Amino acid sequence: MIGFGAIGQVVADGIIAGRAGNARLVAVLEQFAQEYRAAGHQLACDPTITFTEDAARFNAAQFDLAVEVAGQEALKCHALEVVQRGRDILVASIGAFTDEVFFDRLLESAAEHGARVLLTSGALPAVDWMSAAALAGEGTVSITQSKPVESWRGTPAAKMVDLDGLRAATCFFESSAREAASRFPKSSNITAMLALSTVGFDETKVRLVADPTRVEMHTLIEFHSRAGSLRVEWQGVPLARNPSTSADVPLTVIKGIRNLCSTVHYGL
Ligand SMILES: NC(=O)c1ccc[n+]([C@@H]2O[C@H](COP(=O)([O-])OP(=O)(O)OC[C@H]3O[C@@H](n4cnc5c(N)ncnc54)[C@H](O)[C@@H]3O)[C@@H](O)[C@H]2O)c1
Repeated sequence: MIGFGAIGQVVADGIIAGRAGNARLVAVLEQFAQEYRAAGHQLACDPTITFTEDAARFNAAQFDLAVEVAGQEALKCHALEVVQRGRDILVASIGAFTDEVFFDRLLESAAEHGARVLLTSGALPAVDWMSAAALAGEGTVSITQSKPVESWRGTPAAKMVDLDGLRAATCFFESSAREAASRFPKSSNITAMLALSTVGFDETKVRLVADPTRVEMHTLIEFHSRAGSLRVEWQGVPLARNPSTSADVPLTVIKGIRNLCSTVHYGL
């Protein structure tokens, strides 16, 4: 596993508790590994697990699947080495793939070395159904992400709307997923997954909303195709360790690992 933060810790617990099929956790690459060891964290001190800040030590461990839950920069830093060793990588930081040069290079390298690049569904429900229905053609898709005002501080939104003066939900951005990803990279994981699995970055429409009446993240997807239409609306529950990540994300990673490490696959 690459990254031992809010998602990584829940995923590690899930693997150890046997919720991820036959998967076994053998190595963790975490930039603050030394701090975890010094604090006596049980998993960091487990002699059967390579828990390290050293990428070379991590890559020297014996494993078939790397699970990235560290962030877009970490993915760009470590993914190539993983696939060049013929190992599959399950990716959470899908927003990194808005950099198409990086994405193409990773895919080419994976193909060359017999590895696979696996994208977790993450915080995007119904991606299985939409990616199938999109094959019928003439698909259109839009995503509206509404977040509390606090969530938009420190992002370009602060210059696009008077966050402190808002009294009602206000849409401050409406454009393609490509434009959204370049201006709001930290919000791009869901939109990138939606775009890549349906109609692409230019055709996927994104609306970003600051809502002073909300304390949780709210997302709406509207999808139409010749095979059917779908409207999904959901509210994320923030993870205590990282309020910008919702609690469903580590569970989808655990489910993904379970699918890869079990005799039966649910929702392939
Ligand atoms: N696909 C989705 O729906 C979705 C949703 C939420 C988050 N994410 C992605 O998952 C990532 C992790 O989320 P989180 O909430 O666990 O974040 P987090 O900040 O709590 O944890 C990230 C961990 O990775 C470690 N890390 C960062 N860079 C590293 C590097 N170069 N080498 C080794 N370790 C490194 C950090 O020290 C931290 O412990 C996010 O950055 C985001 O890109 C995806």
